[in-house]
Amino acid sequence: MNPGTGATDGGRHGEGSAQAFGHLVTGGVDVSHGPILYLEGVTVSFDGFRALDDLSLTLDDGELRCIIGPNGAGKTTMMDVITGRTRPDAGRVFFGQTIDLTRLSESRIAQAGIGRKFQRPTVFETMTVFENMELALKTDKGGWASLRAVLDSAQLGRIESILVLTNLRDAVDRVAGTLSHGQKQWLEIGMLLAQEPRVVLLDEPVAGMTDAETEKTAELCLQLEKQHTVVVVEHDMDFVARIARTVTVLCEGSVLAEGPMDAVRNDPRVIEVYLGR
Ligand SMILES: Nc1ncnc2c1ncn2[C@@H]1O[C@H](COP(=O)(O)OP(=O)(O)OP(=O)(O)O)[C@@H](O)[C@H]1O
Ligand SMILES: [Mg+2]
Repeated sequence: MNPGTGATDGGRHGEGSAQAFGHLVTGGVDVSHGPILYLEGVTVSFDGFRALDDLSLTLDDGELRCIIGPNGAGKTTMMDVITGRTRPDAGRVFFGQTIDLTRLSESRIAQAGIGRKFQRPTVFETMTVFENMELALKTDKGGWASLRAVLDSAQLGRIESILVLTNLRDAVDRVAGTLSHGQKQWLEIGMLLAQEPRVVLLDEPVAGMTDAETEKTAELCLQLEKQHTVVVVEHDMDFVARIARTVTVLCEGSVLAEGPMDAVRNDPRVIEVYLGR
């Protein structure tokens, strides 16, 4: 068992202190002197096996970063560490200059502005697309919904623009359970966007999508860039090539290579451990 996992309340680290809380209340992610996400020397062990092994990674504000690498490389574990689901055994994980993510609970990290989409879509199947969006908008980032509040026109406008962005405008009254797999993935991304995250983490967003859905998801990722920092983990190399700026290759829990898609794709080490399989 990972001794760090499960310590999600974070309170014992003094997360509730005025100082730590102040960063959240002001909503300030201080990126004035560097990256928006900063991981240094992060190690996560499961029964002695190092899923992350001295991983260091930095992400600039507003960038779109693709993370690739073989099964078991630690990509999902890296997202678990950033979102507070798994505690690192060692290392530093910062959101901006001042927010130490290893000291915050999962819900506080979401409140601070880091949103995550899991591999499988988790929308409310019996509710319509609109109702799912409404719920996401009324739910604060800690997961508490104020259901009786009536949406104001600004909120309705936001739902509308997110539905346009996620190709769901025409499906607004559809019951979510009847959507295609790809549409469910978009709805979940839309629900994530309703919470206005600074950082959006997408784990295998195009897995199981048709080619047409994959292309639309590429366009969506490119539109999210700048307004959000976007981290995309994917195995679909055509998709990655379509959206790639900087690509990071993880292998055995640390960074094997990093750079533009062409450089990474032609790196003999990357071909050996991943692309050449
Ligand atoms: N809770 C856990 N307990 C034990 N081992 C785990 C746990 N979570 C992940 N692992 C192991 O850690 C390693 C990294 O897993 P991870 O899911 O991060 O890989 P990944 O890069 O996301 O792989 P994939 O491309 O298949 O999704 C794997 O060997 C996995 O079996
Ligand atoms: Mg994974």
